[in-house]
Amino acid sequence: MTEPFFIGIDGPAGAGKSSVSKESARRLGYGYLDTGSVYRALAWHVVDSGASTDDEAAVIAASETFAPEVSLDPDVRTVRVGGVDVTEAIRTPETSAAVSGVARVLPVREKVNTLFRALVADSGLPGVVVEGRDITTVVAPDAPVRILLTAHPDVRAARRAAELGDADTAAVADAMRRRDASDSEVVNFLDAAPGVDVVDTTDLDFEQSVAAVLAVIDERTGGR
Ligand code: DC
Repeated sequence: MTEPFFIGIDGPAGAGKSSVSKESARRLGYGYLDTGSVYRALAWHVVDSGASTDDEAAVIAASETFAPEVSLDPDVRTVRVGGVDVTEAIRTPETSAAVSGVARVLPVREKVNTLFRALVADSGLPGVVVEGRDITTVVAPDAPVRILLTAHPDVRAARRAAELGDADTAAVADAMRRRDASDSEVVNFLDAAPGVDVVDTTDLDFEQSVAAVLAVIDERTGGR
């Protein structure tokens, strides 16, 4: 069997990364892997095992017993850890606050990167759209399609505020700036690495953003 086709999509929050990646996967009949959900599940696992995500040794130890079950179906976002459905739990503010403590530990990143590559390789699918922060640079630098999906910070903040139903765009922009700064200390997802195609969604609506991503995929693969 041939290797599933690997499409890496990185970028900051509010660029439309998740919704656009998922819809592109659907239209291609491919799988979809949200790597952020795996970091979130690991943070949940660390806390569940009674450790603090500030304790690096404990985080590394917990990562050794971490075997998440992650859905690759773009319409099913279930994540299980040790048989427990953590799909909702990994989206709480508590997990969101804990996740950077695990994402900054290098041996943990190596462990989950191996997991991501195996999930794609063993998927049995024709292709998988893999969304994250370091997919195009670290997880799959040789992937046939590598995209950085980005947008102007003001537009990203406005979209995020709308998503949250929060009128205070300035506060959302501020929180987003802080999170981008902290997350980009770990991996640079704000600039495109050489050979990575940039899709800037600042002036694009959802449909146009999907079309732009599909056009890059088509161009890079000769319409495969
Ligand atoms: O995209 P998200 O908010 O669900 O990501 C959760 C956290 O995981 C966030 O702190 C960034 C981190 N992350 C990462 O470091 N590398 C990835 N490939 C994906 C997410």
